[in-house]
Amino acid sequence: MIRFVSQAIKNYHATGAIAPSSRFLAGEMVASIQHGEQKRILEVGCGTGSFTKAILKTLQSGDEFHIVEMNETFCEDIETNMLASFSENNPEIIIKLHNELLQEAELEGEFDTIICGLPFNNFPVELVEELFQTMLALLKEGSELVYFEYLGMRTIKAVFGTPTLRKATEERTADINARMREFQGGENPVWCNLPPCRVVRLRK
Ligand SMILES: C[S@@+](CC[C@H](N)C(=O)[O-])C[C@H]1O[C@@H](n2cnc3c(N)ncnc32)[C@H](O)[C@@H]1O
Repeated sequence: MIRFVSQAIKNYHATGAIAPSSRFLAGEMVASIQHGEQKRILEVGCGTGSFTKAILKTLQSGDEFHIVEMNETFCEDIETNMLASFSENNPEIIIKLHNELLQEAELEGEFDTIICGLPFNNFPVELVEELFQTMLALLKEGSELVYFEYLGMRTIKAVFGTPTLRKATEERTADINARMREFQGGENPVWCNLPPCRVVRLRK
């Protein structure tokens, strides 16, 4: 928690959260993972690992799990506190941590599920589009990409923001809605999280 908050203050734009996600949100995020054979899972933006911990519990022998995280401190912590012991106990599961930007990471093949913790509402719409294009290109046909968004943030900006912010928020909402239509988007609220949020699932 302390680690997360100190990194969030230093890198607020990229971290985009005030606290690690709750176990209720983590449970909803990983609900898209199918318990099939030899699945490939990608997590984007693991932070201090709230979703990572939940994802590790779903993995079975033969599975492959890739994590992309730009923050070196978070990567070192995840490697030391979570991945090292997991890999030692589960040598038949491949785990790769990529300390890189998603848009620059060299990821190969297709993934059965993508779990994304990126704070999209902190990014310009052009970057959001680039990040979704990158992830959707990596997603297997018929599979799900899951992300979350804090509830009410866009509404507050659209109502109380400056004219420039209101216009940017309208564009953001139009971009989100277009993607929801194109990829059969569905959503579930998660109230037990700080702040409450909605989990969005896009299907390719
Ligand atoms: C909201 S935090 C993730 C929180 C975490 N999932 C949790 O539940 O506690 C977002 C994370 O995405 C990372 N991030 C932001 N932009 C990124 C990018 N383009 N590529 C990879 N990681 C990125 C940040 O460093 C940060 O750790």
